[in-house]
Amino acid sequence: MQRILITGANGQIGSELLPELRRRHGAEQVLAAFHKKTPDQALLDSGPHCFIDVRDADKLAQIVQEYRIDTIFHLAALLSALAEEHPQLAWDININGLCNVLETARRLHCAVFFPSSIGAFGPQTPPVNTPQDTIQRPTTIYGVSKVSGELLCDYYQHRYRVDTRGVRFPGLISYRTPPGGGTTDYAVEIFHAALTEGHYQCFLRPDTKLDMMYMPDALQAMIRLMQADARQLLHRNAFNITAMSFTPEQIAAEIQKHLPDFSITYRVDPLRQAIADSWPRHMDDSCARQEWGWQPDFDLPGMVEDMLDKLARQLQQEQSHGPDQD
Ligand code: SER
Repeated sequence: MQRILITGANGQIGSELLPELRRRHGAEQVLAAFHKKTPDQALLDSGPHCFIDVRDADKLAQIVQEYRIDTIFHLAALLSALAEEHPQLAWDININGLCNVLETARRLHCAVFFPSSIGAFGPQTPPVNTPQDTIQRPTTIYGVSKVSGELLCDYYQHRYRVDTRGVRFPGLISYRTPPGGGTTDYAVEIFHAALTEGHYQCFLRPDTKLDMMYMPDALQAMIRLMQADARQLLHRNAFNITAMSFTPEQIAAEIQKHLPDFSITYRVDPLRQAIADSWPRHMDDSCARQEWGWQPDFDLPGMVEDMLDKLARQLQQEQSHGPDQD
């Protein structure tokens, strides 16, 4: 991992992976690929960048060649709820984009990180202690694209020896960039609402339990997996990883320990509730722990404390300087 490309570099994960990799490897070694939306000035100024639509195979290959990229973190994708509103577009971006990345990686000898998701599971999957290798019959286009992505990555690995690696992320919680269009987004929105309104109206039922993870753990997972000794990896792609499982009711109670006046009500969105009900409640991530030493640092109380502290500071800064320009 010497010359790195991040697609989706101003998305929820990319906007945090980018500074972390630049800190570790040097800014010039990490090329940020943005799509149309103009990223904030700090990201633009922090090192080399380009604009790519991942569906444009020629441009992707040209950039990988020009910058002599050897590792691609392919993070550009539509999330579950948005994908359900635009299934054809979701397939186009999530699958054709990935095919372009894998083909480029095959021809130009790059390693690839691909994020799969709890969304790769479905209603027939065992929901508790969901095994690494189990039934996957997702009922969303997002899930279909993630299962297909997992299989494509495995295929390029065994057919062409492309060094593909990946994890199944749970809902990711972070303060820097909101996720946008996901089913687990409530677990981010709730913090913004708690600090600005003192109240949150949740779109999932109070007892909807899902796997979750704080962003610092997601970053260390990606980097640790990409650095792992390939000989230790029995699986390559789609490792189950989780850090905590909670319901809206439980996270609200944890926030109330810090903000006693915070309140929550529920107005269920049937689309996102149906998606959440089809996903596991707690994945078994023992393969990741055994094969490459996965170990999260943040549980629910630790995440809530850190998130409230960091987000409050960020909101304060935005108030005094104005938000970053889009
Ligand atoms: N966080 C994603 C979503 O809700 C799941 O991977 O779509």
